[in-house]
Amino acid sequence: MIAKASAPAKAILFGEHSVVYDEPAIAGAVNKRAFITIKDSDSDKSIFRAPDIGFEAELLTRQKKYILTKGKPGIIRYILESLHRVHDHSPIDITLSSNVPIGSGLGSSAAVTVATLAALYRYHNIRFNKSSLAHDAHMVEQAVQGVASPLDTLVSTYGGLVYLSRNKKVEHININFNVPFVVGYTTKHGNTGKMVKDVKNLKTRNPKIINPVITAMGNLTNYAKQALLKRDFNKVGELMNINHGFLDVLGVNTVELSRMVYAAREAGAIGSKTTGAGGGGSIIALCPGKVDEVAEAISRDDNILKVNFTRKGVSSRVYK
Ligand code: PMV
Repeated sequence: MIAKASAPAKAILFGEHSVVYDEPAIAGAVNKRAFITIKDSDSDKSIFRAPDIGFEAELLTRQKKYILTKGKPGIIRYILESLHRVHDHSPIDITLSSNVPIGSGLGSSAAVTVATLAALYRYHNIRFNKSSLAHDAHMVEQAVQGVASPLDTLVSTYGGLVYLSRNKKVEHININFNVPFVVGYTTKHGNTGKMVKDVKNLKTRNPKIINPVITAMGNLTNYAKQALLKRDFNKVGELMNINHGFLDVLGVNTVELSRMVYAAREAGAIGSKTTGAGGGGSIIALCPGKVDEVAEAISRDDNILKVNFTRKGVSSRVYK
């Protein structure tokens, strides 16, 4: 039997870091996906392969361990944690193929986790729905990372644009948001845990300055939600630019991130900002009619992906 599943990556549009202090956030699924195929193994071993990232390992599912035969570990911890929760330890072959850059702040681990769990549920004929899948994937991320926001796994599961409110209620922003974006990413990966801690320390040292900024970031996210619902993309762009300034105040931007943000604006983006935790990672630029110009400007020094937000969340099938 063969089970296949895929799940999208995400980009945070508004509210990174302020969401840690219970302010709202908006994130969306992008049209870059992780694909998982699971089939019976032809040997007595379980093997994980990710040819796109040059990775191969033998999985010791009972011990939650692996023996690396090729490449670097990383994403494999999410696969092992998912197997540990769902799989019966019979030998299987898992293949990952992905067009999401790993560790770039686009939620590659959530996309891989959601796709792996969905494929495993299909393989074992276990009933699931999007709500249970998003919950289980969040548990896997938490087990691997210690802390994880539910936003990435929610977006990878449901697709579309998701608004997380101040009281952590999830709303789907139901618009057709087929506006072109360019993502610029650096080879230097940010460390989300460290960035969250740095912001916390800055806030503790300067509460009277940073607390109002975090509140303003929450208000900005709410304005952005209204602008999105009205499809007022110039306003969305303006708010992205302000949001980038706030992230600068929080100290999470880097020379590379700001270089990409300003290169994008000079090339005609109507809004651009760091997306995700910062300290490295990615920026996102809203550039209707200027995709090629913006992509070209960023790619002089950094890497780019042309993306669109997509309504397509997780999808899975079984082949007997
Ligand atoms: O590193 P990313 O892209 O998953 O973004 C983290 C977003 C933060 O707000 C900084 C942290 C969080 O858990 O919400």
